[in-house]
Amino acid sequence: MALITNAPRGTQDVLPADSYKWQYIERTALDIASKFGFREIRTPVFEHTELFARGVGETTDVVQKEMYTFNDKGGRSVTMRPEGTAGVCRSVIERGLVNDALPLKTSYVVSCFRYEKPQMGRLREFHQFGVEAFGAASPSADAEVILLAKSVIDALGIPDTRLEINSIGCPECRKKYQLALVEYFSSRTQSLCETCNGRLSKNPMRILDCKSPVCKEIASGAPKILDFICPDCAEHFDGLKRRLDAVGVNYTVNPDIVRGLDYYNRTVFEFITDKLGSQSAICGGGRYDGLLESLGGPKLPALGFAMGLERLVMLMERCECPFPEPETCDLYIGSSGDAAAVEALKLAYKLREEGFKVECDVVGRSVKAQMKYCDKIGAKFSVIIGDNELQSGIVEVKDMKKSEKEETTLASLVDYIYNKLIAQSIEGIADSFDENFLIG
Ligand code: HAM
Repeated sequence: MALITNAPRGTQDVLPADSYKWQYIERTALDIASKFGFREIRTPVFEHTELFARGVGETTDVVQKEMYTFNDKGGRSVTMRPEGTAGVCRSVIERGLVNDALPLKTSYVVSCFRYEKPQMGRLREFHQFGVEAFGAASPSADAEVILLAKSVIDALGIPDTRLEINSIGCPECRKKYQLALVEYFSSRTQSLCETCNGRLSKNPMRILDCKSPVCKEIASGAPKILDFICPDCAEHFDGLKRRLDAVGVNYTVNPDIVRGLDYYNRTVFEFITDKLGSQSAICGGGRYDGLLESLGGPKLPALGFAMGLERLVMLMERCECPFPEPETCDLYIGSSGDAAAVEALKLAYKLREEGFKVECDVVGRSVKAQMKYCDKIGAKFSVIIGDNELQSGIVEVKDMKKSEKEETTLASLVDYIYNKLIAQSIEGIADSFDENFLIG
C-alpha cells in the first residue's frame, strides 16, 4: 500500500513552490527559439516501438536497455518516448510538413522516459526543451542551431558552460573508421562488457559511449573518427568552425563525442558544465541527414538539439542564477457573514476580469484566520468586508507590507488598487535602483 504514496523511482514532482522556475525556463527557451524562427510542435508521449528501434538505433543503450515498452490492450507494442527527435520526424513525414516552406523549424518541450539507473541529474522521467530543423544542409544551419542553444543558456544566466563539437562524418567515412574500430576492439573483447561484445560486429561505434567504466577506459584509446572523415565532411566541419569563430563563440573540438543515438552524421555537439558531477551534459545535438529517409520520408538534411530541463533547473539553483519572482496576490478580500462573503466573491471575480490577482475566503473561516492566510500567501493589499462595509459602501484597504490602512469606497476599489499597485511598482524600481547603483 505504501507504494501508492511513493513516486516511482527516478521520477520527480515539480511542486507549486518551484513551478515558476520551470515556467520561466520553458518560456525563455521557446521565446528564443521563436526569435530564430522555430515554432512549437507537440507530439504524442508514446509512439509505435518500431519508430524508436529504427530511429534511435537497435544497438543503442536507449533501445537495448532503457525503453519503457509495453503492449497496449490492442496488442500493439508501444513505447514511451525516450527522446523527442524521432516523434517529430514521424510527425513531419506523416503530416507532410516539409511540403511547405523549407527549412522547417520546430521546437518542443517534452517529457521523456528512459529506464536508467537513477542518480543526480539522471532520471527515468525527465524533460527536454529541443529544436529540430529540416531542409538545411549548410554549415550555417549547424551554427544557427548551436547559437540558439547558446542564447538560451546565456539568457538564463548560466555561467561557465563549455561548447564541445565534433564531426562523426557520413556513412562513407564511417566504413573505414568502423574497420579500424573492429581491429582495435577485437584484441580487447575479453575486457569489454557483454553488450559491447555484441556491438562489435553490429555497430562498433556504439562501444565508444558505453557507460561501463572498463569499456570507457578501453574506448579512450580507440582510433578517433576525425582522422577518418572524407573531404566533404571535413569541409562542412571547417565551415561550422569558421562561422563560430566569426560570431566569437568559444568551443573546443572534442574527438571523443560520438553521441548515444544512432541517427547522427557530421556535426555533433554538447554543452558541458563541471557543476553537476558526472551528468555534465546540459545539451546535446547534431545533424541527422539520413533519418527522415530511413523512416520512409523524403531525403532531407536535418539537425537539432535537446536540453535536459532538470539539469538546467539544478544548475541554475547551484549557480544562484536569478529566477524572476513569481507574482503574488494583489488583493485579498476577507469577509464576515454570508452577505459579505457573496459580495467578496462577486468583487473578486470583477477585479480578476480587470486583470488583478485576487483571492477571497472560500473556507468560511474567522476573519482572524483569513488574515493569517492572507499573510502567508504574501498578498500585497487586503480588505475586509462585513455588514457595516456593505451598508456604508466604505472599506479600509490595508497595505500589507507597510501595515498602513486607508479608506476608500467599494465602488472605487478597482481604481484605488490599480493606482496603489502602480505606485508600489514604481517604489520597487526606485528601491532596486538604489540598491544596485547607489548603495551596492
Ligand atoms: P540526449 O543527449 O540523449 O539527446 O539528451 C539530450 C539532453 O537531455 C542531455 O544533454 C541531458 O541534458 C538530458 N538527459 C538525457 N537523459 C537524461 C536523463 N535520464 N535524466 C535527465 N536528463 C537527461 C537527445 O535526446 C537527442 N534527441 C537530442 C537531439 C535533438 N539531437 C538532435 N535533435
